[in-house]
Amino acid sequence: MKPYLKKKSINGWPLFWLISAPLSTGMIVAITKADLSTGEGISSLIQLSVRCAVPLLYTAFLASSAHSLFSSDFTAWILRNRKYFGLCFALAMAWQAVFIIWMVGASTNYYANEVFVLRDLIEGLLGYIVLVPMALTTFKFGRRLITRKQWRLLHKTGIYYLWAYAFSVYWWEIFYYRDPVFLDYAFYWTGLLAWGLRAAAWTKARRNSIGNSSAGAPLHRLAGPLGLAVASIGIGAASFGSAWVQPSQEILYGYALTRIPEAFFPYWPFEPFLPLLVIGVGCLLIGNADDWKNRTNASRV
Ligand code: HEM
Repeated sequence: MKPYLKKKSINGWPLFWLISAPLSTGMIVAITKADLSTGEGISSLIQLSVRCAVPLLYTAFLASSAHSLFSSDFTAWILRNRKYFGLCFALAMAWQAVFIIWMVGASTNYYANEVFVLRDLIEGLLGYIVLVPMALTTFKFGRRLITRKQWRLLHKTGIYYLWAYAFSVYWWEIFYYRDPVFLDYAFYWTGLLAWGLRAAAWTKARRNSIGNSSAGAPLHRLAGPLGLAVASIGIGAASFGSAWVQPSQEILYGYALTRIPEAFFPYWPFEPFLPLLVIGVGCLLIGNADDWKNRTNASRV
């Protein structure tokens, strides 16, 4: 695939136009077909724009970890063009913003009665508050305005926040609401996989650093199998959310102390991410578990 993946037409700005031109044309065609006199009609355009955005977001989110786990010409191509997948995502989200403003302006009642939830608005606005500087600092003029450290912090927290938004929307769609469609499942599982690749890449890098003085003392080697068991429990919980979503509501909501975060704090109380926390603990154990093979290698070095 190498000679093909090196082609100018599918790298850099040509790739950006290859994705964003049909995407924008599709949006314009959808506008001509949608019933713009109703909130539902505009909402369907919001849905369409986001469904084009999510795969681009996931591609940018998994690029580096996919390449560090499965180094190939294809993963190198994705990593080489991560910036352009990110900019295509930003463009698709710009379309969503146009449709949101349209809905608020032209179907205010629909927005107020059918869509508006204060915490959702806070979550959504924060999404754009990180997305806009991420897009601007992708360009030289924007990057010059912040330090390298600030750039890394913005892009790392920003992409995690945006991934979390999409992932949590689809978690609720398939495990809580009663009418999920195929795309809801597809975007939930690919969102979980994208995060899983990052966790696996972290675990692999951590294991490779075991024995290096900078990595600190490793855990007992039984931490490995224990970590696997813990991660499997997390994967089980991430696969069968319907089984625990109701009981978790009774446990996690309704305390005087949590009234404010319930009303304002994005993603509180983090139900979609609780299984990932368990998987993360599993990775932490696996990543830090002592390993005779590593130990002997290190001592040999
Ligand atoms: C103020 C900001 C935002 C508002 C008002 C807003 C509004 C909406 C509305 C009304 C829908 C429902 C469309 C429908 O199903 O008919 C929707 C869906 C969605 N939005 Fe947003 N949104 C905002 C920000 C964001 C951000 C930052 C993301 C980040 C990725 C995002 C991701 C999604 C996703 C994944 C869906 C589900 C689409 C589907 O059904 O597949 N939204 N949004």
